[in-house]
Amino acid sequence: MHAMPTRADIPPINETIADERQKWARHYGAHPYFTRRSASVVRAYLERYSQEGDTVLDPFGGSGVTAIEAFLLGRHAIQNDLNPLANFLARAIADTRLPSLRPLQAAFARVAAACEDTLRSLETASDTAVADTLAGLPLPENIALPRTSDAARFHDLFTPRQLAALAVLKRQIDREPDEPARLALLLAWSATAAKLNRTFISAQGRAASRGGASISSIYRYKVAKAPVELPLWETFRGRHLNILAAKREILETRDHFNRNRHDGWRLDSDQHFIVMAEDAATLAGPVRPESVDYIFTDPPYGAFIAYLDLSTLWNHWLGFPVGAASRANEIIVGGDLGLSEEHYRSRLAASIRACLEVLKPDRWFSVVFQHWDVRYFETILRTATGCGAELRAAVTQEREVIWSMHKKKNRESVLAGEMILTFYKGAGERRDREMREAQPCLLHELLDTILRDDPADEMTSQYLFNRLVLAAWQRQSLSQLSVPREAFSRELQARGWAYDERRHVWRKHTPAADTSMPLWEA
Ligand SMILES: C[S@@+](CC[C@H](N)C(=O)[O-])C[C@H]1O[C@@H](n2cnc3c(N)ncnc32)[C@H](O)[C@@H]1O
Repeated sequence: MHAMPTRADIPPINETIADERQKWARHYGAHPYFTRRSASVVRAYLERYSQEGDTVLDPFGGSGVTAIEAFLLGRHAIQNDLNPLANFLARAIADTRLPSLRPLQAAFARVAAACEDTLRSLETASDTAVADTLAGLPLPENIALPRTSDAARFHDLFTPRQLAALAVLKRQIDREPDEPARLALLLAWSATAAKLNRTFISAQGRAASRGGASISSIYRYKVAKAPVELPLWETFRGRHLNILAAKREILETRDHFNRNRHDGWRLDSDQHFIVMAEDAATLAGPVRPESVDYIFTDPPYGAFIAYLDLSTLWNHWLGFPVGAASRANEIIVGGDLGLSEEHYRSRLAASIRACLEVLKPDRWFSVVFQHWDVRYFETILRTATGCGAELRAAVTQEREVIWSMHKKKNRESVLAGEMILTFYKGAGERRDREMREAQPCLLHELLDTILRDDPADEMTSQYLFNRLVLAAWQRQSLSQLSVPREAFSRELQARGWAYDERRHVWRKHTPAADTSMPLWEA
């Protein structure tokens, strides 16, 4: 008798995966989004924990990296996000309806014929001429912006030239009759809007066009003191070329896959790329219980990013409605609604429960997370294990940081990366864990153990922090751990570690040999 094959024996990923963020045009450079995951990391997880023909879900899908990669690997992909901008990006990139690039190139040529001259002349037109052009254009309603914004009203986000150029382009793209080509052009337009606005900041030491909106770098509508006005037509043409490269990858992958597949499975986004806009906390229902084979997701990290507020620039102009319910259900702290930590924590827990409800038994579930407040890790770990899942791996994924974006102070307390927690959902016995009594000086104790046992003599803050969380979790004392940032630095310094500002790592201090002392007694 053969035992039933089980996925419990899949060896978990225990090492950091190389972050080849720039490898794929379909994600890198196509359109900005917040905290986009590296496709190379996501692919490694998908390949390890799921199989062809499986259903893969990302309940906090963002720009769709998980769902797009799962789809291209021959899985049935479910992209879910409350934010219409996120779903628009994912759908437009994954779309396989174009038979080839030719219809898109032809559609672009039609836009060029109708708009290029106007945009080029707008660049040098007088203010009065720009105002005249604007008067005849369909503009989005001048709504109020989120409270944290430097600009009060929607139109204040743009210079008159930018507003006119975007309106001219959008009007023409909306007239495009070929639907899949129109969607791809709209994506290029949307990426153009990310550059042609007054929050655009050029990256230091690079060409003026290299940079992005403050919206996606510092997560605020910060209007630049001296806005960079990039060339209007060339900016759109550049975005179009990036989208063309993204679509080339998708269509080539599709054609290669379909040529070599003989069991009837087709890389067809209409069939195998499902987009949902549900609240992740109540996903069990819209997604059938025990119907998903693998989940890879990264939920919002607390108060860092108010996704819906920050996506107003796109959602409003693209005409995507954002209802009051979506705003109230967003799993963040703060934002325009001032959502509480309690809201965040309980919804985060509900979304983890929903994930484990829709996951089949004998399957895996990976959550990417980062936060200084370790109680949030506890929420994830407790909820998942409370639902019968077992933590099988916890891996630190370090990330390249654009250090120039951070304030000079406290660089040692920037968490440059995240932890990927991977759970296995077995056949399902529930394990209630008893918490130990509160332990005094837990931080001291854990740091002592980690620094004693780890042979490395340099470590990043992120790595150390993740080790702390895990060590506390393994002792079942995560709820007693708190890691105030200052204490973290102080405790490390007290143990002879120093922060290397240049390399952004903590280094063990080894005293230099004191040459004033004789090395041996005469
Ligand atoms: C950290 S981002 C995910 C980024 C994504 N992994 C990527 O590679 O682009 C978290 C996402 O969760 C979404 N979100 C926030 N609250 C949600 C909720 N209640 N239900 C579904 N999605 C939600 C946000 O709109 C955001 O896109």
